[in-house]
Amino acid sequence: MERLDKILANLGHGTRKEVKVLVKRGAVEVDGVLAKDPGMNLDPNSSIIKVDGEEIKYRKYIYLMMNKPPGVISATYDNREETVIDLLWPEHQAFDPFPVGRLDKDTVGLLLLTNDGELNHKLISPKWNVNKIYYAEIDKEVGEEDIKAFEEGIVLDDGYKCMPGKLEIKHANIHGSEVYVTIQEGKYHQVKRMFESLDKKVVYLKRIKFGNLELDKTLEEGAYRELTEEEFDILNKFE
Ligand code: URA
Repeated sequence: MERLDKILANLGHGTRKEVKVLVKRGAVEVDGVLAKDPGMNLDPNSSIIKVDGEEIKYRKYIYLMMNKPPGVISATYDNREETVIDLLWPEHQAFDPFPVGRLDKDTVGLLLLTNDGELNHKLISPKWNVNKIYYAEIDKEVGEEDIKAFEEGIVLDDGYKCMPGKLEIKHANIHGSEVYVTIQEGKYHQVKRMFESLDKKVVYLKRIKFGNLELDKTLEEGAYRELTEEEFDILNKFE
């Protein structure tokens, strides 16, 4: 059982105070009866709540897919920089979501946001070997020897030997290359540092896949949406 004002506030219908006003003006219905007391207790899983005649979808967790734009950081709060959370609507911020893993400030593409700590833990734990696929543009020509180096495990500047990764070349010439990189780990600046070890520079980086979940190509940079049920299932079946 939970208080009505708390349920509505948690679902993004305003502060507790605003929700009280909403109830007082007769906008809220619980199981077909006009709610009079904002402090009434109810079970949000079995009761039907309506605000201004519209049924509220109660859920504890949210799962969002964002096409992260450049220039924002993958954190929940920062007093100087814009964060991915700042890009969410208040009704989604109300769930206190956080990003699953991190993308650099200048990296774009698929970023998941959720308030489900358990799923987050599974997805970022190296134990589960979740593949992350990136599209990258490189300043130099990438070749067979680089593919081999990825397969063998690249040693980073701090001496850390990466798990084997997959490098696919989409296009390469002396002016630069377009590649796909598949890795399972998520060390700080990992893809950039892997290429630095090969004396090359990543000039553009976009994550396009997380496990079996693909970035929705219709999402513009900075846009996001909730996962569909099908996508949620895909995400739970890690590769
Ligand atoms: N690797 C990087 O270097 N940066 C990212 O944002 C993600 C992976």
